[in-house]
Formats: sequence, structure tokens, C-alpha cells
Amino acid sequence: MRFLFLAAASAVLSASIDDCPGYTASNVVESDGKLTADLSLAGTACNIYGTDLSDLKLLVEYQTGSRLHVKIYDAGLQVYQIQESVLPRPPNPGVLASDSAIKFQLTEEPFSFSISRTESDEVLFDTNGTKLVFESQYVYLRTWLPSDPNLYGLGEHSDSFRLSTDNYKRTIWNAESPGIPRNKNLYGSHPNYLEHRSGSGSHGVALLNANGMDVNINKTDSGDQYLEYNILGGVLDFYFLAGPSPTNVSKQYAEVIGLPAMMSYWTFGFQQCKYGWPDIQYETDVVANYSAANIPLEVLWADIDYMDKRRDFTLDPEKYPLDKVRELVDDLHQHGQKYVMMLDPGVQKSDSYAPYSRGVEAGAFIKAVDGSLYRGEQWAGEVVWPDWFAPKTQDWWTDEILRFFDPETGVDIDGAWNDMNEVSNFCASVDCDPSGDATKRSIGADVPQKALRTPRRSEGDMKGLPDRDLFNPDYRIDNHQGDLSIRTLYTNNTNADGTVQYDTHNLHGLMMITATRNSLITRRPNSRPFVLTRSTFISAGTKAAHWFGDNTSRWDDYRIAISQMLAFAAVHAMPMVGSDVCGFNGQAQEQMCARWALLGAFQPFYRNHADISAPNQEFYLWDLVAQAARKAIDARYRLLDYIYTAMYRAASTGAPIVNPLFFIYPDDVGTFGVDLQWFYGDALLVSPVTDDDGTSVTFYLPDDVFYDFWTLQPVRGEGAKVTLDDVAFTDIPVHIRGGTVLPLRSQSGNTTDLVRQNDFTLIVAPGTDGRASGSLYLDDGDSLDVGDRYSDISFTYDGETLRVEGIFGYETDVVVESVKILGGEEPITKDGRWSLNGAFEVTVT
Ligand code: NOJ
Repeated sequence: MRFLFLAAASAVLSASIDDCPGYTASNVVESDGKLTADLSLAGTACNIYGTDLSDLKLLVEYQTGSRLHVKIYDAGLQVYQIQESVLPRPPNPGVLASDSAIKFQLTEEPFSFSISRTESDEVLFDTNGTKLVFESQYVYLRTWLPSDPNLYGLGEHSDSFRLSTDNYKRTIWNAESPGIPRNKNLYGSHPNYLEHRSGSGSHGVALLNANGMDVNINKTDSGDQYLEYNILGGVLDFYFLAGPSPTNVSKQYAEVIGLPAMMSYWTFGFQQCKYGWPDIQYETDVVANYSAANIPLEVLWADIDYMDKRRDFTLDPEKYPLDKVRELVDDLHQHGQKYVMMLDPGVQKSDSYAPYSRGVEAGAFIKAVDGSLYRGEQWAGEVVWPDWFAPKTQDWWTDEILRFFDPETGVDIDGAWNDMNEVSNFCASVDCDPSGDATKRSIGADVPQKALRTPRRSEGDMKGLPDRDLFNPDYRIDNHQGDLSIRTLYTNNTNADGTVQYDTHNLHGLMMITATRNSLITRRPNSRPFVLTRSTFISAGTKAAHWFGDNTSRWDDYRIAISQMLAFAAVHAMPMVGSDVCGFNGQAQEQMCARWALLGAFQPFYRNHADISAPNQEFYLWDLVAQAARKAIDARYRLLDYIYTAMYRAASTGAPIVNPLFFIYPDDVGTFGVDLQWFYGDALLVSPVTDDDGTSVTFYLPDDVFYDFWTLQPVRGEGAKVTLDDVAFTDIPVHIRGGTVLPLRSQSGNTTDLVRQNDFTLIVAPGTDGRASGSLYLDDGDSLDVGDRYSDISFTYDGETLRVEGIFGYETDVVVESVKILGGEEPITKDGRWSLNGAFEVTVT
């Protein structure tokens, strides 16, 4: 028997959670694949951080054989539920409970439940012996876990990939996060986790809730391990995912929240950015310098420097005159290169600024409690922010994008960069007066804060309970910025649909990238839109790519980039991710930047970027870094179709684009805690040097056969650590996993367009059984809808013959010119010209 120990620690309490009455279940109705019940407060309200709700509902749906939906919500349907328009819920095909791999078990009094595996009865989630607390501004649920579980997810954070299980608090609340502090909430909110258990596999727990929360992982005094949710509101909308393989969990999660957006081929090219480049001439020089240094540059980025007074949809007339910008972009396009520009959500409040006036006309901006436009401070000075819930905001945003990025008269961008969308407000206190004019202070600072409450509401609209303290709820999450409204929008602002920022704060970034993506599709209906975002929420991967924000040029941030990539790509269904290569803040050092150029080449999104206060760090500025970059990009580009194929798998099945080691070796406990190595795709094990300025690396090699990617020599892994010494700063250890076939372009190219014209070499890396398999996806690289113009080709090698078959809908002149079978001292090579427009076989003896 377990007992509830102390309440969550974040506030000074007069009562503790132990005093709360919990709920009793009644009217339990079970039909095929569904269970419903009423939950009523089981005693005197504890009102610990708000008002206890007396009547709740329980809904349990066996949605698929591997997915169970459990929802606990208020009977009055007033508590905020994430709008379907923002986060569509998955369809519920429905299965019989007996056909499900996991089952729900109810305890009526006190109400609790468990989720267990149907076959083995292994308990995966278990609230027995704890009491649910469901208040107006606080929702609490605890589940027991096995001791020191292997837990991953609960992003966004900069902590270890496998989460600490001792006194660990994961606060989730989107926040401007300079320096990506450890053990803090960062820019995005992903309250889902994957738990992996040796032997019995993995399962997933996804909570679709947008409110601020602390998730605590800890042990009771008697050593019982738990995970508990302390949430500022919303409903408990859980999806339990049966796995049982880690990859199954990733796919099942993507089924719930949506498959990731397919990225264009060019987005895998190398990209250069810098905040603080002085003018367009400098940017032109950067492109020329890359070319002169013989380092392929695919994409040039424009930070806010291009803007006139840092306002969206404007060009600085002196430093970025339109004709010069158009000249550069034309030149880039003629050379197969791309240009991406920034768009911030803060819109300068000025009647002489047309995008603002048109936005006012459209009713596109967020309003303060007194009905005036809500004002704050951002790059452009005094700004207002789009209300993405307002009916005309999307059209206004699209119109601005079409005007400014008109290929004929404006800047013909290839993608858009959405920054500061947590939303970030430079106002650091509730007394902030962005205009500097005291008479204009309408943003609420002079209204007593307790009075800033939501209006009364009607039942059933799920838009949020009335009469809450939307500024300073009694339960304080551990937001590193302080109070909820600090450095962001006031949480009492009402959106056009009647919901409040208190509930929807975490959705702003997702809604901005949705709007931007829609606008880009309107602009170029047949091209895949490319949007890069800083702020994310559940399902952001269906819309955009993400970089990890303002890291620092130091070894620790180089290392943590690996954990961040694994969490997003494998657990949060967001494949196109990467860090600011060489670091954003501070001064990049040559050796570190060389290592990072190599590490970044094996992350899906590969961009070098630095702050205005940081010295320039383009790869060509140091010989060592230039050498490392040439080698890294050459390998990355030869592997481009291999990773593009992995991207396609992610976008069509939810399988991760990069894999933590335990995804490939789920029974090998030695892999569970590895977060300095990863599989790029599912065949290439990357094990970079990670010690500060080090030249040796000790890494884990699972019990399997591998082949050095660079020399093609076999290496036998023994499920143990191995050390490589003298790893030059221009090298990164990469191994091909035995049992795989790698489609490699025989040669790299200066741009991804040129890479696409080169023939293939197939590298066959037999596994311990002498066999191997792999695949290759081909399409035109950019169409939003490729129809049946794609090829999905499979390779199977049985020890003698390589069979190439599949779907061949994409016509190409490119051929396979060589097949290499690894294993001996030297690979066995067979050359030929095998067309990729149909099936073929190659027998190698
Ligand atoms: C903050 C972003 O994180 C950073 O990448 C960018 O350079 C600056 N804003 C300036 O736009």
C-alpha cells in the first residue's frame, strides 16, 4: 500500500494534497470499446490552489489496438480544451477492449485507474493510492512507476535525453530562453513521454494539455517512484500508446498528433546565418567567400538586420535596398541556392506602418482587457501581436506575405523563419510602458490584478472557467522567467474566440507557423513550404522545422544538441531539427567549431548561426574549420538521399529520422542512457568526440557487426565501450550498422540540385547473418503533392544477390553505377549502369 506524501512543493500551503478528498466514480457504463463514468468530489473541497470542481466525467476509448484514450473533464464543459482547429484530435476507429494491447482498469472509490498490458498484466500507468485533484486553477495526478525508469521526452528542455528520476522537475511553459538554461522550461511545450523497459519494451503517454505545468519525477520517502502532473488548468486528455517497440511508440504518437511535414530536398543543404551582418553587400561577400573556399553553401539567411527599423515586411533602404536584395536573390537562385528571411510576430504599432494599419482594419491584433490593443516591446519598439484566433488574421498575414515576398516586385524567398513566437516580449515587468508615454498605459498595469478576471461564460463552450486569477494563480509553476506574464503577453488577454492567454499562451508559436505555412502555400501552391520556428507545441512538426534557440559557443551546448535532437526527432515527432552550429552566444573557438561543423552535418537541420554580439563564425574563417566542413558536407551530400528517405518515412509513418541507440537495440540496457551518440537514419551510428578540446572518444558499440563509414572496414561491436584515439578535428567517427544497404550518391556537389544529378553507389553492409536491406525514396524534391510521381525502392541482399524492387513512379536518368559489398579486407565491387526506373538484381560472387 502506498500513501500520498507531501504535496507539490512550489507554494506555501496551508493545506496539502493529502487533505484533498479525491473523487468517486459512479454510473459506470461499459460498452464495446468504450467506458464512461461520472466522478464526484468525495468529500469536503480542499481548494488547495483554486476551487475544487464537484462533478467530472470520465471517458475511456479503445481507439486502436495500440491506443487508449482517457479523458477526465468537467461535467459543465467549461474548462478550457484545446481548440480542434489548433490541434485536431485523431479519428477514433474504435476496437473492442479485448482486441487492445493495453487495458484500462477502474477503481471506483477513491477514483483511480491503471493502464496495463493485456497479455502480461504489466502495469504501465497507475494512479492507485493517490487522489485526483481537479480545481479551477490546479489539476494534479500522480502515477507510480518502476524504480529509476527510463523516461524520455517532456520537452522542451536542455537536460539529459534520459530524464533524471530523482527530484526532477520539468516545467512546461513556452518562454524566451537566452542561453538555453538547464533544468528549466524553454521555448516549446511537449508534455508527452516515452518509457522504455528492458524486456517488455516501450510505451508512450501523451497528454494533450496546453496549460503551464510542472511535471515532477521523484521518489517518496519510502522509495516509491512516481511521476506527477501539476497543471494550471485544462483537462486531462491522455493517449496511452502500447508500443511495444520504441519505434512503434513514435509512430503511434504521430498518429495522434499528425505526421511530420515532408521537407524539400534542398532544406538538407548546408545553411549560413548571422544576426548582425552589416548590409546586403556583406551577405553577397559571404556567398562569394563560401564559393572561394570551396565549401558548398545551399541557403543564405536574413535575420532582422534586413528590416527597416526592424519591422516585418520592410527593407532597410540604406543597407538592404530592394534592387540589391533582388540581385542577390536572383544570383542565388541562378546558382541553385536559396534565401530565407525572418518574420517576427511583434508588429510595430505605428499608423504610418501599413502592415499595422491593415492589421488594425482586419481586427488582427490581440486586445487588452480594456478593449485597447495590447501593447508590448519587441525589436521594432512598441508592438502589438497577431491574434491568431481572430477570423481575419490569416488573410491579413497572407496578404502581407504576398505583397512583400512577391517574386516579381519584392523578395523571392524560399522559406520563412518565425522567431520570438513564445511569445517574447521585452517588457520584463507588469509595469512596462512600451510607448514611454504614461498616458497610453492601457495594458492593465494600473488595474488591480485580482480584478483582471475572465468574464462569465456559458456552459459547454470549453473556453475556460470564469473567475480565475489569470495573473498569479496560487500554484506557481517554476517558470524561469518568473510570473506567467513576465517577458510575454499578459495571461489575462482575451483572444477573439473568447479564450484567454492563460490557457492558450503555449499555442502562439504553433498558430504562427500554421498561418505562415498556409501563406507560403497560397504563394506557391505546388511547393513544400519551409518554415523554421523557435517556439513549438504538440504537433509543430506537422508544420515546420525547429532549431534549439540561443545556445552558446561552448562544449556543453555542443553536447546537449545531441539530446535535444533525439528528444524532438524520436519522442516529439519533430524530425527537422538542429542546433545553431558553432553556437549562437559568445565566441566560437576554432577546434570546437570544427567539431560542430562535423556534428551538425549529421543532424537533420544544418545551419551555422551566431548572435550580433558574437564574432563572425562562417566556416571559411579558419582553415581547420573549413577542412572539417568540406569533409562533413561532402559526406552529408553523398548521404542526402538516404536521409531524405528517412524524412519520407517520418512524414509517411512517423518513424524517427534519427534514432537513439535503444530504438535499434531495445534489449540492450547499455544503450538506454546513451545521449552522446545517435543513429543518423537507422543505419549510421555517429559517435563524435565530445570532450572539451579532446582528440579521443570512448563510445558504446552494441553487440553487432559495424563498418567504418570512412574506410569501409568491418568492426565487431561487443556490447561494450570502445575508445578511439587521435581523432583529428576534421574527423567524426561514423559506423554503418551491419544488415543495412546505404544508397549513396557516388559524388557530392556544390548544391543539392547538382547532387541530385549524380549516380548512386549502393553500399551493402551485411549483418551477422550475412544479409542486408535498405530503401531509397525518390521524387522531384519539392512538390507539395507528388501524386504517383515517386519511387520507393527496396534493397534486399541475401548473401549473394542484391534485389532491387518496389515502386518506380519517379522517372530519372540517374543510375546505380556501383554496388559494394562490405565484409572482407576490401569491399567486393561490381560496376554497371542499372537504371532506377525499374527492378533489377545484382549477383556478386
Ligand atoms: C532571437 C533568435 O533566437 C536568434 O536566432 C536571432 O538571431 C535573434 N532573435 C535576432 O533576430
